[in-house]
Amino acid sequence: MPPTLYQAPTGTQDILPEDVPYWTLVENEARRQARLANYGEIRTPTFEHSAVFRRGVGETTDIVEKEIYSFVDRGGDDLTLRPEGTAATVRAYLQRGMSSQPKPVKLFSLINAFRRDRPQRGRFREFHQFNVEALGEEDPLIDAELVALQLRFYAALGLDNLKLQINSIGDPVCRPSYIQALRDYFEAHRADLCDDCRRRLETNPLRLLDDKTPTCQPILNQAPRSIDHLCDACRDHFAQWQSYLSAADLTFTVNHRMVRGLDYYTRSVWEVWPQEAGAQSTIGGGGRYDGLAEQLGGPRTPGVGFATGLERIILAMREQEVPPPHASGPAGFLVVQHAGLKRHAFGLAERLRQRGITVDLAFGDRKLGKQLDAANKSRSQFAVILGDDELARQQVMLKDLRTGEQQTVAESELSAILELHHSANGLVDGAAH
Ligand code: HAM
Repeated sequence: MPPTLYQAPTGTQDILPEDVPYWTLVENEARRQARLANYGEIRTPTFEHSAVFRRGVGETTDIVEKEIYSFVDRGGDDLTLRPEGTAATVRAYLQRGMSSQPKPVKLFSLINAFRRDRPQRGRFREFHQFNVEALGEEDPLIDAELVALQLRFYAALGLDNLKLQINSIGDPVCRPSYIQALRDYFEAHRADLCDDCRRRLETNPLRLLDDKTPTCQPILNQAPRSIDHLCDACRDHFAQWQSYLSAADLTFTVNHRMVRGLDYYTRSVWEVWPQEAGAQSTIGGGGRYDGLAEQLGGPRTPGVGFATGLERIILAMREQEVPPPHASGPAGFLVVQHAGLKRHAFGLAERLRQRGITVDLAFGDRKLGKQLDAANKSRSQFAVILGDDELARQQVMLKDLRTGEQQTVAESELSAILELHHSANGLVDGAAH
């Protein structure tokens, strides 16, 4: 039997060289936008003790009930691949003594995350997030700063037609009475609810609100609204947040059914949706989580943040026909008249690379014509042709692959010429921005 030709696991992707310019563009922009508001980068481990997410994200969330990748390692530790970044960031904040720094402590990360979701468009089992958090600050001004950062990031990438939805889901003072109101209401409609909703009614009544079953929608639309149950402090916080959003000219709608899929949220929650018809998933979302640090064993520490999926951003950029970043080829591609010159070509290529000039060269023993084909396919600007006669005079033949023009130049001038042309075209590190 021939050996199996392996496939990548379902829900994972290979990000290929032609896709990477989008990724570097998005990652660079994320770093730039985070820095503009003085957020510092943090990198936490890919896996954590399972309790961090079970306690942090919540036992009755879809993520913990159905989607986390957990395993017991050989030493008996119960570990989980991170399904998100917030709980791990708060764990690191508490463990590394960041609570002694001036508040707010502003952190961001670019992470891979893992959820055993049903794969579909924009939904993967390994995906990537730009995750931004502010710890130690209760002022709704920071909730507004985070939303502004998120929207500025999308705008800088050329995305438009995005809709911001916000809500407030209260805190431990007012949430219980809201949950009771929901319970009473849903109990009265129990007979008309789907099985999932009936189950959720026992475990987590808030989560019924984002159920998508068509027959439940009329009931859910009429459900009690959280903002009618907020305590004075939460109502005031919500009002101030909205006024700060308006101060930055950010338009939003209040969505009374938006509760988010993670249990740690208190007060502010928000999501950003593409407006395209048929778009059924958020591009990013966040909220406040003032109780999370305590759930993870720390002192009371207010917190707020958001995460946005890089796959979904790139998908939206492609859909909205945001032009792809231009990927450049090398400055030069070295070809030889005969195989005996390969050693010389390799030495020259390495000297050029040491000077920071991007070059490639032909491998194998192909004829000159085939090597020139390879040079063209590499989208190199120049073919650098090495022949016996030229080398005897310490020269090379330079062919501009765009114009077809040829000239003989001294080998010693080569690096200056390649560098000049390459930077004149604004081609840097495989992508021009
Ligand atoms: P989340 O809403 O679960 O929130 O995820 C945030 C974003 O991650 C989503 O809007 C989406 O763009 C992306 N995402 C989630 N799951 C997938 C998936 N299976 N495939 C592709 N993309 C996905 C959080 O994770 C919170 N930690 C956000 C937060 C930060 N709240 C406060 N701070």
